[in-house]
Amino acid sequence: MSHSAPNAVSRGPREWSAEQNAEIVAILARYPTKKAAIMPVLWMAQDAWEWIDLDIMRLIARTLDLPPSHVHAVASFYTMFKKAPTHRYHIQICHTLSCALVGAEKIVAHIERRLECDEHGNSKDGLFTLLRVECLASCGSAPMAQINEHFYERLTPEVVDQVIDALRAGTKLQEPRPEADQWIFPVS
Ligand code: FES
Repeated sequence: MSHSAPNAVSRGPREWSAEQNAEIVAILARYPTKKAAIMPVLWMAQDAWEWIDLDIMRLIARTLDLPPSHVHAVASFYTMFKKAPTHRYHIQICHTLSCALVGAEKIVAHIERRLECDEHGNSKDGLFTLLRVECLASCGSAPMAQINEHFYERLTPEVVDQVIDALRAGTKLQEPRPEADQWIFPVS
């Protein structure tokens, strides 16, 4: 299954709050052009509104004096920017070459089976959203996935089971990478 995220939709017109406007002024001061500030402004919007809909893209376009199509292109290119709501645990599984060579497809199939995902990668239990993504720059510890902000590396079906079971049991996500370059159980 491809697990493509749904296309961005509208949720109604948006405006920045006074605090957000102040933050944007501070962001713009760090960049040579308004266009160059698009990534932190997208992050800021995602932090505030959880995912980037078409109205937020239009707002960012107006703010940065850019064509809406440019904002849409950047938000669409980077999978870290959500274009649809996700469940509590957003699993971004890398399927690029290094991960593919050491079994990413097997891991994806295993996660799909465990979570009973629909065509958008949403799990039947309403806890997880699975999305295939391109290289997450952890090729040396492939196969790997990112769950919310955390990397989970050297994945095996057994490790995936441990992580899913722990998260379903309500265990808090933790950064799994210790100083040593080896797997340590990622949750506590
Ligand atoms: S190819 Fe998977 S992290 Fe680079």
